[in-house]
Amino acid sequence: MFIPLLEGLDIAAKTITADALLTQRKLARYLVERRGAHYLFTVKDNQPTLLADIGLLFEGRGEPDFREPLTLEHARLESRASWATTALPPPQALIGLGSRNHASTLFGARIANLGCKIRCQASRGARRLKKGVTYCLDCAFRSDHRALAVTSTMRVLGIETSCDETGVAIYEGERGLLAHAVYSQVEIHAAYGGVVPELASRDHVRKTLPLIRQILDDARLSRDSLNGVAYTAGPGLIGALLVGAAVGRSLAWAWGVPAIGVHHMEGHLLAPMLEEPAPAFPFVALLVSGGHTQLVQVDGIGRYRMLGESLDDAAGEAFDKTAKILDLPYPGGPALARLAEKGDPTRYRFPRPMTDRPGLDFSFSGLKTFTLNTLNREMALTDDQDRTRADVARAFEEAVVDTLVIKCRRALRKSARKRLVLAGGVSANMRLRARMDEMAAKEGGEVFYPRPALCTDNGAMIAFAGWQRLRAGQTEPLAFKPKARWLMAELPPV
Ligand code: KG4
Ligand code: ZN
Repeated sequence: MFIPLLEGLDIAAKTITADALLTQRKLARYLVERRGAHYLFTVKDNQPTLLADIGLLFEGRGEPDFREPLTLEHARLESRASWATTALPPPQALIGLGSRNHASTLFGARIANLGCKIRCQASRGARRLKKGVTYCLDCAFRSDHRALAVTSTMRVLGIETSCDETGVAIYEGERGLLAHAVYSQVEIHAAYGGVVPELASRDHVRKTLPLIRQILDDARLSRDSLNGVAYTAGPGLIGALLVGAAVGRSLAWAWGVPAIGVHHMEGHLLAPMLEEPAPAFPFVALLVSGGHTQLVQVDGIGRYRMLGESLDDAAGEAFDKTAKILDLPYPGGPALARLAEKGDPTRYRFPRPMTDRPGLDFSFSGLKTFTLNTLNREMALTDDQDRTRADVARAFEEAVVDTLVIKCRRALRKSARKRLVLAGGVSANMRLRARMDEMAAKEGGEVFYPRPALCTDNGAMIAFAGWQRLRAGQTEPLAFKPKARWLMAELPPV
């Protein structure tokens, strides 16, 4: 029997001890022995603990049960004899190993439903690791096992789970985006006024495989036609990242294709290249999402020079926090933009932070406080509160948009570039797009955006970025580690 082993996920402990790994291998074998089972499990204090049977979920009947802890007997596992490597059957389990702090994200799932089949030459390449136990640990990662099909028809599955959207997509060099689907967790988090990481992780567990199955059906593709898997490896919520990483890594392993961890912000940055016309390198990019506001000089894939970034709140975060101040429901950005539509732009003028001095950095937290103070003062005076809220929302949006436009103009001039790329959730803002277009036209330049659905988090951008890197022959070791923090400047060039 074959087991995808996902190593190096013990984020809490930073490193995984040899003992813990051994225990996990035993657990993996135990689970696989029970054919047809679907499991979610963790390793707690070096003890594998089964958290749930999620079999019903994968059969399309019912919900996973997250409350069924079970400690395994190691002695029983030890007695298992050899695991044949000839005549390999399809893998019966996917095993995800993970951090103690994010127990619910540890993922084990049977993928026989997806029609899994081992295609590597593992019987020849397998390595003997422990008496009587033979594994092939790195099929698809060694040239003698299976060469990566580097062609323009190469198809890559992208998986995005860094925050509160489960996004999956298939990108092919020749025909572009073949399918994509996003499942938003908005309803789950709305009651709490923001993303609850643990709930996000659990829901990614529920949604990722069914969504993958759905887009394969939509595109009338079988998993045999996929040549690689790209998943978001960071930055983001670590638990949520672990789910996508474990699923992506496991599928790639089982399908015998390479996998690559993609930088979420690089995904955003390259998303406008999925559109027609695509921006040519070099260009300046403004990345405006919930977690980042960055101005980047882009000379090619992985050739990024940071020109400026937010010193405190990101633009999307400022939208979200200000929306809360205005009593708007989560997610705040789009709700604030809708309210601002009704506002009078001439009633208030808010400051444009950090525009009166040179430099390309941003700061939005002062603007948020300014908005709060203005709102408190004006609401006490007004007899038309709805109108005041709309006018304040408009003044805030005008200030953010104007600030971003001023900095982009400065960046274009400074870097002597004419092409500007906007990406990330806030680039879906229509006022921002209109003002940016006006500015660029005056500068004799041009602005490129993804379609609104690809501005916010999605799997298409991850499939595309992963495709670029896999096509360039980039790979990663089987032991992988999602990163909550990760600088884009650390990425290798393509
Ligand atoms: O890129 P994204 O989907 O997720 C992150 O990587 O953070 O960006 C989400 C952010 C949220 O802060 C959301 O409020 C903001 O993008 N956003 C908007 C709009 N649509 C999404 N902000 C302003 N106007 C919008 N239309
Ligand atoms: Zn994002």
